[in-house]
Amino acid sequence: MLSVIVREYSTKDFRDVMEIEREAFSPRNLIYDVYIYVTYGSDLLVADIGGKVVGYIAVMDLDRETSKIVSFAVKKEFRGRGIGKRLLSTAIERCRERGKKKVLLEVRVSNYVAQRLYKKMGFEIVNVIPNYYHDGEDAYLMALDLTRSNRGAPLS
Ligand SMILES: CC(C)(COP(=O)(O)OP(=O)(O)OC[C@H]1O[C@@H](n2cnc3c(N)ncnc32)[C@H](O)[C@@H]1OP(=O)(O)O)[C@@H](O)C(=O)NCCC(=O)NCCS
Repeated sequence: MLSVIVREYSTKDFRDVMEIEREAFSPRNLIYDVYIYVTYGSDLLVADIGGKVVGYIAVMDLDRETSKIVSFAVKKEFRGRGIGKRLLSTAIERCRERGKKKVLLEVRVSNYVAQRLYKKMGFEIVNVIPNYYHDGEDAYLMALDLTRSNRGAPLS
């Protein structure tokens, strides 16, 4: 049984987080990495197993009421064990604690695994953004309404 702790990012986690991001999203360029971690780190959480970082979620507060998930990944060998769900539900709970009413994210239309997780957590597709990704793929814009009861907890 894995003992996973979800905790705040610290600078010593930088290399691990970068590696997980590269593995999940290559090819992304360095400017984009810097953009996320330095500019957009309103809330950056990591999943830690015995001191090893195996996943992360980066959240940016857009305004007083809205947060956005800007990057989220679990190391390949640790996927499918509930770690993503833990990271996402913790990040959502922290948005709620910061008084946010809505959480947004973009996801590739082909990324069924992530979409399934987001729908389970109560996110709904609210728009399609054509050509959102560098390779021309469209994105779904998904939104979670935190003013509706029980939103942001796994629907199991
Ligand atoms: C999306 C991601 C973070 C999920 O992390 P994870 O730790 O594997 O997720 P969990 O184990 O908590 O699974 C949560 C839910 O995701 C879905 N899921 C996970 N693995 C799946 C698979 N292989 N096939 C279908 N659905 C799957 C299921 O709905 C699952 O819930 P369930 O276990 O109750 O059925 C991970 O797959 C990942 O890093 N993917 C690559 C990066 C990415 O796509 N990030 C999101 C960009 S928007």
